[in-house]
Amino acid sequence: MTLIVEATGDNIRKAAARLLEGGLVAFPTETVYGLGADATNDRAVAAIFEAKGRPSFNPVIVHVNDKAEAEAIVEFNPKAALLASVFWPGPLTMILPRKADAKLSLLTSAGLPTQAVRASNHPVARELIKALGRPIAAPSANASGTLSPTTPQHVAESLGERAGMILAGGKSAVGLESTVVDMTGPVPVLLRPGAVTLEDLKMQLGEVNVELEALNDAPKSPGQLLKHYAPKTPLRLRAVDVKPGEALLAFGSIRFMGVAGSGAAKDMPQNMRMNLSETGDLNEAAANLFSMLHQLDARGFRSIAVMNIPETGLGLAINDRLRRAAGAQKP
Ligand code: TXA
Ligand code: MG
Repeated sequence: MTLIVEATGDNIRKAAARLLEGGLVAFPTETVYGLGADATNDRAVAAIFEAKGRPSFNPVIVHVNDKAEAEAIVEFNPKAALLASVFWPGPLTMILPRKADAKLSLLTSAGLPTQAVRASNHPVARELIKALGRPIAAPSANASGTLSPTTPQHVAESLGERAGMILAGGKSAVGLESTVVDMTGPVPVLLRPGAVTLEDLKMQLGEVNVELEALNDAPKSPGQLLKHYAPKTPLRLRAVDVKPGEALLAFGSIRFMGVAGSGAAKDMPQNMRMNLSETGDLNEAAANLFSMLHQLDARGFRSIAVMNIPETGLGLAINDRLRRAAGAQKP
């Protein structure tokens, strides 16, 4: 298959079909090219991280076509509604509280209660979202730690076949990632500067704070780390057995796992154990990670024993999130 295809109506339909099957599609936006997945499909969103080789699960932007579509996912406040009416569709991403009933993978927000949303004005991005009939999760379509792509060739050079299919839509007009504003607090916070400028935002909102380090991929101090999902229940990582009263988050077979002092993990009650992937599939485990942690956390166990997950491929990102969720706990 040719990787780069012209964004004809026919190819956009093929791309949407590919997304619906859980595949990935790189597509143009006015800022940079995005690597898209069906935002409602856990495994598809996990595949984005796999393709980019991201060592951690950063939350990703969910792309919609307008405010009405965004309202199915996030809770708007008056300031956010104002920004949407002025700057959408366009190069502005807003972080808003995620709705409890949002039909979205928990991976898009990396388990956080907030969700980044944006409406692009690129006709190909818009047609693709329309053809899929669902929101599209998409970070920039480049391998982790490399420059964001502004042409289909950049995407092909950076990701190759891992991009799945690349819809060509010319050179990105803006060429810089979208402006990211956190709209969840009383005063909006600019997290990433972009084509919608601080002055543009202040003109609409009055007061705007600036915290540019918050989204730094390699933060300089732990205080600058992006907020991350933290369960209430303590996690015990690389567990080789289960302690009495503990829940189990398994990975792979639990045939040889014991409960300290009393029998086998496989005989534990169903509500005390979940398996990220019985077959040891890292993509499946990534797709299940946040939803299973949320479920076990809600049941009030004294701790959760998490089985060892290999430090390869998506395992790096899974372990990174588990270590953060476990606090200062060493791997
Ligand atoms: O221009 C763009 O925004 C491109 C195109 C494809 O839309 N997308 C893009 O996505 O640059 P990405 O994932 O490379 O950058 C999104 C940034 C990341 O730094 C991520 O950590 C941050 O937004 N972000 C996303 N959701 C967040 C949330 N709930 N809270 C805080 N930061 C968030
Ligand atoms: Mg990026």
